[in-house]
Formats: sequence, C-alpha cells, structure tokens
Amino acid sequence: MRKLHSAYNASMSSDRASFSSSLIAWQQSHGRNDLPWQGKDPYRVWLSEIMLQQTQVATVIPYYLRFVDAFPSVGALAQASEDAVLACWSGLGYYARGRNLHKAARMIMALHGGVFPKRHEDILNLPGVGRSTAAAISAQAFGEKRAILDGNVRRVLARHCGIAGHGKAVEDELWRIAESLLPDRDVAIYTQALMDMGAMLCKRSSPMCGSCPVRTGCVAFDTGRVHELPTPKPRKRLPERHARFLIALNDGMIMLERRGSRGIWGGLWSLPQLEDGIDLHDWEIVERIEMPGLVHTFTHFRLCISPVVLRLSERPKHQGEHAWMRVDEALQAAIPAPVRNLLLSL
Ligand code: ADE
Repeated sequence: MRKLHSAYNASMSSDRASFSSSLIAWQQSHGRNDLPWQGKDPYRVWLSEIMLQQTQVATVIPYYLRFVDAFPSVGALAQASEDAVLACWSGLGYYARGRNLHKAARMIMALHGGVFPKRHEDILNLPGVGRSTAAAISAQAFGEKRAILDGNVRRVLARHCGIAGHGKAVEDELWRIAESLLPDRDVAIYTQALMDMGAMLCKRSSPMCGSCPVRTGCVAFDTGRVHELPTPKPRKRLPERHARFLIALNDGMIMLERRGSRGIWGGLWSLPQLEDGIDLHDWEIVERIEMPGLVHTFTHFRLCISPVVLRLSERPKHQGEHAWMRVDEALQAAIPAPVRNLLLSL
C-alpha cells in the first residue's frame, strides 16, 4: 500500500470547525449564489449535478435552461422519448448521462410515484448517480450531512491536507477527510463552498492563494507544494481510431444514420461511416470533396475523422437505420458535437 504523506490531523476538531466556518462565510460573500438550479427542487438539483459531471458551469447553464424548459418535471422527462431527451443533450457530450437521466426518471415514476426520492439509498440507486453525486443531491436538496468528492474538491482537500499520490489508498484517505470536515449545520452552503473554492480560487493552474479563506493551515501552501498537489496521474497516450464520415447530400437534404444503442454515441444521429460496410459503387456521385480532417478526444480514445462531401444525383438505398433531413432539421436532432460543427461548416 502506498504511504500517505498526510501532515494533517483530522482529530483536531477546532481546526475542522474553522475550516468549514471559514469556507461557509467566504461562500456567502464571494461564492456563486445565482446559479439557476440553486433552491431546493430536488429534480433541478439532480439534473444540474448530472450535467456538471465532467462539464463546467458556464457550458452547462444554457443546456440546463433549455432542458428544464423542455422537461420541467420528472414526469415530463419520463414521458418524453429518448430521442427528444438526447436532442436536448446534443453537444453536451457523455451521452450516457442523458440516457441514464431518462431511465432514472422512468424509475422514479415506477418506484417513487413520480416524486424525486429523499432517502439517500434510493438516490444512490438511480442510474448515473455515484457516491459524490448522490451526496451532492442529498446535501443541496435535503440538507443532509454527506460528503462530496469530485475533481475540484479532491484538489482542494489534497492541497489543504497535503495528500500526495493517487490510487485506492489515497482516494480512501480523501473520502475520510471529506467526511471528517463536514459541519453539523449549513451543509448545503458548505458543499457549494467547496465546489466554488475549487473552481474559483484553488484552481489547477494559477491558484489564487492570496484570496483563500482557508490558507491558514493549508499544508501545500505552508510547504510550497501547491503546484505539486494533487499528484497528477500519469497520462497514457490515448489509442487512435479512424473514421470516414460521409456527408451525403441530395437536393438540400443530408443523410444521417442512427447509431446503435451501445457505445459512445449510442442512440444519437450521426453521419454514415464508410467503415460500416457502405459500398459507394452503388451511389450516383456527382461531386466528391475531401474536407479537412478533425480529431475528437473521448476519455478512452481519439477519433480521427476524415469527412468527405458526396453530392448525389439520387438517394441511395442503405442498410442501417438512416434518414434524410434538411440540414437545419439535422441541427435540431440528437447529433454529437463534431457532427454539428461539420454541418455548420458546410
Ligand atoms: N459542480 C458540480 N456541482 C456543482 C454545483 N452545484 N455548482 C457548481 N459547480 C458544480
């Protein structure tokens, strides 16, 4: 087991209390208190927490506003088709989040009479909700004393408590610290304070230690290791995959293909790919234009896309589930961001 470099003693309860009270006071005067999901509607808190997984607040806000407008309640979300939900999610990425959200809404209808559950175990049971997200919902919507540990909070705590390294032992230690630092009151404000600190002051690069309300007692600051902590994970070179995207056009219409329900863009409308066994000999191609390639990075691989525009004199038969749409119609459909950008560049 890795040896932890913990110079921090969580049993010092007065330090603990001053950590949370300093953060809470700072949040009230300097934190973000006008986010559109703030308030106690658990449906909105849940939706925002799912959207905020791996995505920054500024990116999420316009998606969040459109989403609650289209689906203002668990019931409205459950009644919608998956296609309509993914169309609203289109461009936000990590589409499993949208599919799980929709599945969870149907589960809430079936198991909880359409009321977002209050019991922590029930929240944790919803698809797409892990330990930190469940805690964020319980703390913010129901004021429960639960610890969160997302990327931002991990950085704040690793620095404050001087925790180096990564792996299971470090993760366990950070969870233990996160739990030990929880205040008895104002958990919702404290939770927001930790998130705000991570996003606004205790940033990965250019942290603003001069403005930090908990700089006193910060092990990383005191030992000159703010830039070393948290220890970065060694980055593996991502494998590359290649795809030929066909932009098949006929009479102002474009061919889109719905991808199977599994995989990274499952259920989304994308461009047909040459690799999917399409035989271009059967297509009446009037003009063929190679477009500049682009690279889209996923968590586990890089997709190198070579797009080709094919102007066709007729609409060919094609095996997969496909549809011809006007380009403006296609832009309203559930399409991934690189496809959207390609269509906009036509
Ligand atoms: N990241 C995750 N949840 C958040 C929230 N409620 N506010 C700001 N950033 C967040």
